[in-house]
Amino acid sequence: MAHYHQFDALVVGAGGAGLMAALYASKSVKTAVISKLYPTRSHTGAAQGGISAALGNIEQDKWEWHAYDTIKGGDFLCDQDAVDILCKDAIDAVIDLEHMGLPFDRTPDGKISQRRFGGHTNNETKQAVQRACHAADRTGHMILQTLYQNCIKNDVKFFDEFQMIDIIMDGNKCNGIVAVELSTGETHVFHSKATMLATGGFGKMWKITSNAHSLTGDGPAILLRRNLPLEDMEFYQFHPTGVYRMGILLSEAARGEGAVFINGKGERFMEHYMPTLKDLAPRDICSRCIYQEVQSGRGIDGKDFVYLDFRPEHINKWFEADGNPKRIDAHYLETRLPDIIEFARVYLGVDPITDPVPIQPTAHYAMGGIPTNNNAQVLADESGNLVEGLYSAGEAACVSVHGANRLGTNSLVDLVVFGKRGGIAMAEYAKNASFHPINKETVHQYSEDSLNAIRNSKGTERPAAIRKELQVMMDEKVGVYRTGAGLRQALEIITDLQARFKNLKIDDRGMKWNTDVSEAWELGCLLDLAEVTAAAALWREESRGGHYREDFPNRDDKKFLNHSIVWKNGKIEIKMKPVRITRHQPVERKY
Ligand code: FUM
Repeated sequence: MAHYHQFDALVVGAGGAGLMAALYASKSVKTAVISKLYPTRSHTGAAQGGISAALGNIEQDKWEWHAYDTIKGGDFLCDQDAVDILCKDAIDAVIDLEHMGLPFDRTPDGKISQRRFGGHTNNETKQAVQRACHAADRTGHMILQTLYQNCIKNDVKFFDEFQMIDIIMDGNKCNGIVAVELSTGETHVFHSKATMLATGGFGKMWKITSNAHSLTGDGPAILLRRNLPLEDMEFYQFHPTGVYRMGILLSEAARGEGAVFINGKGERFMEHYMPTLKDLAPRDICSRCIYQEVQSGRGIDGKDFVYLDFRPEHINKWFEADGNPKRIDAHYLETRLPDIIEFARVYLGVDPITDPVPIQPTAHYAMGGIPTNNNAQVLADESGNLVEGLYSAGEAACVSVHGANRLGTNSLVDLVVFGKRGGIAMAEYAKNASFHPINKETVHQYSEDSLNAIRNSKGTERPAAIRKELQVMMDEKVGVYRTGAGLRQALEIITDLQARFKNLKIDDRGMKWNTDVSEAWELGCLLDLAEVTAAAALWREESRGGHYREDFPNRDDKKFLNHSIVWKNGKIEIKMKPVRITRHQPVERKY
């Protein structure tokens, strides 16, 4: 017999999007958050450099410039009406966070401090603009703590360390979710009027990744199994500055503060590729340039990495060369970037104040995910039909505001802007709806069966070995550079790994804190999402944003100025959805 709970609004995931939705829903309806982690361990806490809003606190800025930068950065695959909402509402969202108590860094005259970030420009001069509001390099951490405290204040009910295994559907209506309580292994049925999936990304399908272990795409994978589609899965972002071999994020804020990339010949190579924005070009471009340097034998000592150099005296030299009057010292950097300086010291034994830091691109962010409209309502198909009572926001969702490549800082904007819109929409819906009946006796059967199948499996395949093979293969064949041949091989390997997944060897057959079972279940999610990612990447025969096909190196607006919508119902099916273009016709991206 499963435990039973009833809430008007139910949010799965306690990152920035989930907490913002819960906060706003809880202002008018009974709201709960279910999280497989303790809430303040959610991955929003790993977001470092800033949250952009055109406050213009340090220099002139306009939300329209932010919008155009976002659209251009996304290689014109963004839905432009959604981008307008993102960039206009970003301003109020940051002020809202400030009023909730978020300790932003300050300018000398007491305003929220802002710094430069990749692809954010003054549209007139084309130079980088200071738009990213920050709390040192712990901006996501501060957002998470602030929102959690405000949710507690607002009487949001938290179910910590509960893992969602299924959603409860009746035709086209979502009526809640089924979750396992990790400490007991017991099943809980959560019956709701409105349900939001804010489960985050799925970066653990790659080996070199900035993503935490929990980022296994549970929400999108569950929807795929329920025959609902995902959008733009081929677009995955590789952040240029991961700690060499480990992938741990070293914030783009370092380059915002003046750091540059250096190759094995000691050259500041981005000057050759992107003469205006240089090291502050968007991430997809920087990551490809790093690979090109490495491929041309200009990695450090001919190896597969380059340096991120933020030694203060070097930064001052480049400021001087660029005509920037600013000068900084070690104390300034230690104050503005304390975490990443510590990461380099701890994980690499390198002190960034005195030595350059070895970096390589790292899997970072899913531009694609669960398709939604501008109120975070989940779409059932390419025509815009809705799944009643189901919402999604944050990295799990695809609104789509990031298009083919997200600009740095825009993930945090997305969380708070669309998390809030989703929370308000859920509350409005729940106030006018009644609970749809569910069968409490049978609704949890599928979840229990799928966990028990793993728990009692007597096969020979270790989940950890399958996961490792998946990750290594994804780095190699579904990474920064892709080819048709490589993607076909990737799909064959994934099919083989999926077959091996049916023959698991599990040591722990217990109920309490059984990480053997929960991690194996998460691996199943990663395998399904890897399959649709590779399939969509094979289907998209062009290069755009974070998706680069060596065999189709050009953007093809005639055929592919469209979102992909993918289903996995027995076999993969892909359809197209037109991009919504309002003010900005596609042009070639130059920086
Ligand atoms: O580089 C960073 O601080 C990451 C920010 C982001 O992904 O938006």
